Formats: sequence, C-alpha cells, structure tokens
Amino acid sequence: MCPADALPRVAGAGVICALEDIPANGAREFQIGEGEWPLRGFVVRDGDAVHAWLNRCPHAGHALNLSPDDFYAPDGRLLICRSHGAKFERATGRCVGGPCTGASLRRIRVELVAGEVRLGTGSDVLAPPT
Ligand code: FES
Repeated sequence: MCPADALPRVAGAGVICALEDIPANGAREFQIGEGEWPLRGFVVRDGDAVHAWLNRCPHAGHALNLSPDDFYAPDGRLLICRSHGAKFERATGRCVGGPCTGASLRRIRVELVAGEVRLGTGSDVLAPPT
C-alpha cells in the first residue's frame, strides 16, 4: 500500500487519471479527501472500460495491496488481497476464492469522460454494498 502522501489525490474536477495511464491488467491507486481517514481506492482497466474499488478487503478490512498499484494475482486476471489471499473478479468485485468467498469489494462510482477516469457525479461516490 502506498503511503497516504504518495497517492494521487482526487480533487475538484474528480479526475483520477487518464485511461491510458492504466496498463492492461494494471491498476492505479487514488485517494479522496484529506486527513487521517481519507477514502482510498484503486481503479483497474478492463479493455476500454474501468472499474474502481474501495481499497478495503471484505475479509478483515485490510488494504488489498502491499506495494503501490499492485492488485493483480499472478494469473493477471483476478485481483488479490495480499493479507490472506482472497481473490476477486475485477469487473464485479466478487470474491471467488479465499477466506471471504461470496463477499464483494465495495464499488466506487467512476465514469470515462474524454479519455479521463473521473469520479461519478452522483451524491455518493460509493455504490451500495452488493
Ligand atoms: S484481509 Fe483480505 S484476505 Fe484477509
């Protein structure tokens, strides 16, 4: 996990990053807000689509990654929590293996606008739990 002061901060216009800044089967971390408890998330690329997730594992609440932007299992398809090995589908956030099978990551609403990944414009950036 990146130290908080190293994560890109999402500010006024809600721009997280450019789509082209996310490699295929790669991810980018970001942070919303300041202080001791900002919202930390990451966005993954799925072809020309993106999915953003709260960086909090449904098993024990840990951040999924230990190194910056490192969210993929060795197979390059599934996301992995480095604490106890839970694996998640990148498009649905559903855990398909490990100690929280059947639970889901919490989606952060994002949209693609003119090649930029931006926070969704609704009243709550977090989608309801599934
Ligand atoms: S905290 Fe993620 S698998 Fe345990």
